[in-house]
Amino acid sequence: MSERIVILDFGSQYTQLIARRVREAGVFSEIHPCTLPAEEVAAMQPSGLILSGGPLSVYDGEAPQLQPELLELETETGAPVPVLGICYGLQAMAHLLGGDVEAAERREFGPADLTRVASKNGAAGNGGGDGAGALFEGVPEGSTVWMSHGDHLTTLPEHYEVIARTTNAPVAAVRDRRRPHYGVQFHPEVVHTDYGRRVLENFALRICGCAGDWTPASFVEEKVAAIREQVGPDAHVMLGLSGGVDSSVAAALISKAVGERLHCVFVDNGVLRKGEFEDVQEAFRGHFDLHLKAIDASERFLQALDGVTDPEKKRVTVGNTFIEVFEEATEEVAQRAGERPRFLAQGTLYPDVIESVSFKGPSQTIKTHHNVGGLPEELGFDLIEPFRELFKDEVREIGRLLGVPERIVGRHPFPGPGLAIRIAGPVEREKLRLLREADAIFISELRDNDLYDEVWQAFAVLLPVQTVGVMGDERTYEDVVALRAVTSVDGMTADWAELPHDFLGRVSGRIVNEVPGINRTVYDITSKPPATIEWE
Ligand code: XMP
Repeated sequence: MSERIVILDFGSQYTQLIARRVREAGVFSEIHPCTLPAEEVAAMQPSGLILSGGPLSVYDGEAPQLQPELLELETETGAPVPVLGICYGLQAMAHLLGGDVEAAERREFGPADLTRVASKNGAAGNGGGDGAGALFEGVPEGSTVWMSHGDHLTTLPEHYEVIARTTNAPVAAVRDRRRPHYGVQFHPEVVHTDYGRRVLENFALRICGCAGDWTPASFVEEKVAAIREQVGPDAHVMLGLSGGVDSSVAAALISKAVGERLHCVFVDNGVLRKGEFEDVQEAFRGHFDLHLKAIDASERFLQALDGVTDPEKKRVTVGNTFIEVFEEATEEVAQRAGERPRFLAQGTLYPDVIESVSFKGPSQTIKTHHNVGGLPEELGFDLIEPFRELFKDEVREIGRLLGVPERIVGRHPFPGPGLAIRIAGPVEREKLRLLREADAIFISELRDNDLYDEVWQAFAVLLPVQTVGVMGDERTYEDVVALRAVTSVDGMTADWAELPHDFLGRVSGRIVNEVPGINRTVYDITSKPPATIEWE
């Protein structure tokens, strides 16, 4: 791969957004920890380097420092590798070069208006463009930038000059007059910075001189090559297919790399939605070059779930049973293939990575999400996680490219523990039946009314209460279903979806009429936080 921008992560929660914005500019980018030795960064021959923000102050004893060699990297032609420091990244550069960074009197957080400052030495152009102006080409005066910092730069290093300020920050952006090194105190990667995408695009295309011709199709090509290299000519790969977007697209991608050495295991865990077991098999069997083993283990799961009411116990039960079934399937593959598969592929996405590494992250303490469906290290596989740096919509785009059917690619997320966490109270067969029917009506109405793609996730939940109703002349005393639909970007926060009233009325009417056993529906109008998306 010829062009890539390397992003060194100093611990910011926004680092992935930087990578995403650079990819949107058509340049491949990848994230590495700021502690990666400079020689290894140099060996990647980056077209440019971006230093992310971070939560600490450069004077903090534990603060990650910038390795001096990183500011001296050269391209193949001997030109200096351009560097862009963002917030902490800028402070780390300045601190290393003898500038002063101080704690601001109060933390600056929120929007500010950007004003460019004329270069005192416009003649010293570098790295394409006019040097000083290249970073802000096409960015209007006074446009909004997003600030979030406690420290700021008070004395610039030698050869540095200010190229932009805001009302509160005299140093909003700087550059090195001698070489293509830039720093911004604001966050160009967040959507609150109006022209932030443009700033990063300018860095990638104008300053680093990248062509900007990288596409998701190139991602596929590169990943396929990388997976082939990682797996080698003979080894086998296991993959737990859930029918969700992430594992399905991972299966399609990895099958392109290793073909029939990919063994997908799709388990009916008894808590799938209506028609799902057949649907997923239909989408894959005969359409992709892979082994698909569909295992109906529903009895085993339902027995294990018998009498379990605690949501976390449900998760653990489904998770552990899945591990047992998966291990048995692995043994079978080993017998057939003549050797135990060495690799395990997972459709882990970037938000899963952040949620599981942030020790204080909300989902860590509230629910044990990502332990379910994930497999324990003791199984001894080497992992293949091709989407660790991508967001769901990027994975969807790749899935479409690979020919994964739209009904799978465009699917709402579905939790590993399935309907078990959508039945409040014990998971019983009859309750599962009611819930499946109600859920199928809700989803098919959403699809028929072009509302399915408008929401991040929608589903029905069966409540552990009976209420009184009247059907014809008869009194009924039956179950209640709650309908849940939310809009969200990544599932970490969510708003309840304002679905049209007549639509909700129709869904409710159909459910109580067509699903005997349910006589009432309610619509959940709680956002996350304070609620979560699922009810358990
Ligand atoms: P919550 O309910 O925490 O859900 O707001 C956020 C997203 O995660 C999904 N979710 C899970 N996914 N195993 C999973 O694989 C789980 O145990 C689990 N719990 C919630 C949920 O459907 C939503 O998309």
